[in-house]
Amino acid sequence: MSALLDVKNITKRFTISRGLGARPATVHAVDDVSFAISHGETLGLVGESGCGKSTVGKMIVRLLEPDEGEVMLAGEPITHLSHRAMRPFRRKVQMVFQDPNGSLDPRQRAGDIVEEPLVVHGLGDAAERRARVENLFSRVGLRPDQMANVPSKFSGGQRQRLAIARALALNPSLIVADEPVSALDVSIQAQVVNLMSDIQREFGLAYLFVAHDLGVVQHISDRVAVMYLGRIVEIGDTSSVYQRPSHPYTNTLMEAVPRPDPARRHHRPTIPRGEVPSPMDPPMGCAFHPRCPMATEICRQERPLLRRVASGAEAACHHAD
Ligand SMILES: Nc1ncnc2c1ncn2[C@@H]1O[C@H](COP(=O)(O)OP(=O)(O)OP(=O)(O)O)[C@@H](O)[C@H]1O
Ligand code: SF4
Ligand SMILES: [Mg+2]
Repeated sequence: MSALLDVKNITKRFTISRGLGARPATVHAVDDVSFAISHGETLGLVGESGCGKSTVGKMIVRLLEPDEGEVMLAGEPITHLSHRAMRPFRRKVQMVFQDPNGSLDPRQRAGDIVEEPLVVHGLGDAAERRARVENLFSRVGLRPDQMANVPSKFSGGQRQRLAIARALALNPSLIVADEPVSALDVSIQAQVVNLMSDIQREFGLAYLFVAHDLGVVQHISDRVAVMYLGRIVEIGDTSSVYQRPSHPYTNTLMEAVPRPDPARRHHRPTIPRGEVPSPMDPPMGCAFHPRCPMATEICRQERPLLRRVASGAEAACHHAD
């Protein structure tokens, strides 16, 4: 069976002006990224701010078009489809954003927000849509009487529940969740992640779950991809990546994850966090070499490609294993 989503070698560059007289600069936001997601599966996508996670998500939902590469949905290339031809695919892929304040119209009532996709796609009559919206409200843990409220009446966690209800309205196969809990209190984060787990089973959903922290995605992800400066540096089953990280950068991210294991609790970070180099001027060779304690001459010269390593994951590092 073909994958639900197949992302093939997508690349996105942005040209930004640097003011009068200066030459414009090119930001290498996403560079040759490939991965697949199966039906019902969750892929966690993790990396520091600016590494290109949102740009990947936006290319999948067609908010951005890749400069190179292709996004396949259920075996169909969707990258260059016209707006009209895209319509049936749009229903299949929905996005939930980090900041529901930015993605929810502050003047719209909550019920109308969730109903809107049904109206846009001409689904059901008014009574059927109403019933669907009510059902979605209760499914995400909101009360039907909250349908008349505007988003500002909701707490941060409730607004994210609302955004999830809207994303579910069209019965998608895949939700791209771009840091859906990063703006929430830690105590609320687990509730929203658990809700997303529950509805995943119920609706048979697949997720691309974006976070900058490995801890957030550990329990919900079947597989995890780690990005650094626009590229995937490690990708594999959650158990392989967490129990035996193969890329030094994955190790850095792991240091930040709180661990219950007492033997490792006092393990000191060995890798300096350092500054992330600019994506306008990525380092030669391995982009991580200026921060990597294991870097050798080959790391400064040759860009490592993803390859299978002993843990079973794939890592882009000359010295993995
Ligand atoms: N529309 C744009 N124009 C110019 N540069 C952009 C644009 N969108 C993103 N970038 C740049 O592309 C790079 C990747 O950005 P992106 O938002 O995908 O990163 P991210 O991993 O989602 O970061 P964060 O964790 O902060 O959300 C960054 O250097 C960013 O400044
Ligand atoms: S290729 Fe070299 S610099 Fe890059 S992560 Fe591996 S050891 Fe470090
Ligand atoms: Mg982002």
